Amino acid sequence: MKILALNGSPRKKGNTNRILDEMIKGCENNGHEVEKYFLDKLDINPCSGCEICSKGKDCRFNDDGTEIINQLAEGASLIVASPIYFGQMTAQLKTIIDRFYSIFNNPDKKFSGKVAVIFTHAYPGDDFYKPYIDLVLKQPFEMNTELELVDCLEVGGVKFIGDADKAEDALRKAYEIGLKF
Ligand SMILES: Cc1cc2nc3c(=O)[nH]c(=O)nc-3n(C[C@H](O)[C@H](O)[C@H](O)COP(=O)(O)O)c2cc1C
Repeated sequence: MKILALNGSPRKKGNTNRILDEMIKGCENNGHEVEKYFLDKLDINPCSGCEICSKGKDCRFNDDGTEIINQLAEGASLIVASPIYFGQMTAQLKTIIDRFYSIFNNPDKKFSGKVAVIFTHAYPGDDFYKPYIDLVLKQPFEMNTELELVDCLEVGGVKFIGDADKAEDALRKAYEIGLKF
């Protein structure tokens, strides 16, 4: 299975990346091919709401997001990983998720893979953002895609680069979720 791993953190060596890499290891050890994207380094236009996709046409933008969208429409699976910024996913991740509209809204396209979700944050505990994360799982994923949910992982108490190295329980869980793809 082809899996796209989207990292919404601007910190390449940050906590989200550390947890994400562990999940990727699980996927790869289970025979899957994973491609990781650092969204912050990519040129991805936000959805313009032009609705051209509703007419069965490709998105008007031809940018780095196109490669991700095309692979998802061809059946790739997905890991989305983001730090919590002011209670929500980062703008980098939200920007590509809005571009998922070009699949959801296109009568000739659909998702068909699986999805796992990672959120990291500084606030202590692993359930403080559960209401927000439950909403993300509901929409966009359950309501606007056909992606089958593998699992989601909330990792609290990580703030500075390197903190996730000490989050042994979360690292183990991330690996185990990777094995479930
Ligand atoms: C702009 C900004 C906003 C943040 N907002 C929150 C927040 O609302 N709640 C929280 O617990 N942590 C918040 N954090 C902390 C990050 O979620 C935390 O440092 C996370 O581990 C960063 O992940 P990274 O190392 O992958 O970049 C914020 C950090 C930044 C830079």
